[in-house]
Amino acid sequence: MRLQASILWKGLLSVGALTLILAGLPSSAEDAGTLYNTPYDVALGERYFERQCSRCHGFDAKGNDETGAPDITGRLNRASNEVGIFNVIRNGVPGTAMLPVDAELPDTQVWQLVAYIESLRYDPNSVQLEGSADSGLALFRGKGDCSSCHMVSGQGGRLGPDLSRIGESTRPEDLMTAITDPHEDVAPRWWTLEITGPDGVERTGFRMGEDSFSVRIMDNESNLWSYQKDDIQSIDRIERSTMPSYDGSMSEGELDDLVAYLFSLRREEN
Ligand code: HEC
Ligand code: HEC
Repeated sequence: MRLQASILWKGLLSVGALTLILAGLPSSAEDAGTLYNTPYDVALGERYFERQCSRCHGFDAKGNDETGAPDITGRLNRASNEVGIFNVIRNGVPGTAMLPVDAELPDTQVWQLVAYIESLRYDPNSVQLEGSADSGLALFRGKGDCSSCHMVSGQGGRLGPDLSRIGESTRPEDLMTAITDPHEDVAPRWWTLEITGPDGVERTGFRMGEDSFSVRIMDNESNLWSYQKDDIQSIDRIERSTMPSYDGSMSEGELDDLVAYLFSLRREEN
């Protein structure tokens, strides 16, 4: 019993920390939908849905004749986009059993519900792409030299994120942006830090970890360097990506092929 309570408490703490971090970001209805749609947000949205919404809409969200709650996995009647779904959840549908959510519920969590509902409506098999995944694979290993930095199914470099399952969590249009405009939205893990240590030697590497007192980087040869912040002479943060943009060096057709290949990367079904 005590163990369970402490696990729950940990979960609450980490959700709280996330909310704090995100609290500084723009929160207008137009902007926020795209901020809270990571797989993590979808998972939190699903958890909340199961607790608060499934008794009417069903665990699969496919609706329930007895309660009159509709299937919300397909086209919706009351909303045509994310902001519309947000408003239905926030305000309810007056005169029906669809009540507004608790007024105390933070917008963040409403967006996570939206992200979950959007994820239900999204069927990757129905997506038609221009490019050819086979040609994309050839470009990935050849002309694009993507595998020197990215690992797929255990093969490739470690200078960028593992892409083995990138197609599960990322939509084609976002894959295209990742290739043509890599500097947008670089996760802190991939920032470059230039640190001049107590000995006056400058070292450059990915930001592997950082807290109030210390910071760790990994250089290009995969060496880890750890510093106490008090001892450092200087630290520069480069929040741009180390990935080159392929806008221009690849034709439009080649970019489409790369996107088709990346989108095909998901867990093997068996
Ligand atoms: C007490 C039953 C009940 C609960 C609980 C409930 N709903 Fe509903 N919901 C309904 C009903 C009934 C409607 C249909 C209202 C109408 O349009 O006539 C509806 C409509 C909706 C719609 C709009 C569907 C469309 O086609 O436009 C969405 C989205 C939705 N609910 C999401 C949620 C979410 C998310 C939760 C949990 C926070 C939730 N509902 C909790 C009964 C419920
Ligand atoms: C010099 C190393 C390097 C090369 C070469 C490189 N990338 Fe990257 N890539 C990165 C890094 C670092 C990131 C993470 C930072 C960012 O988001 O840009 C990244 C991010 C990505 C992402 C986003 C991943 C995510 O989790 O959202 C995709 C998709 C991607 N790269 C595809 C490619 C493709 C396709 C190529 C070849 C055409 C390529 N990369 C070439 C280093 C590289």
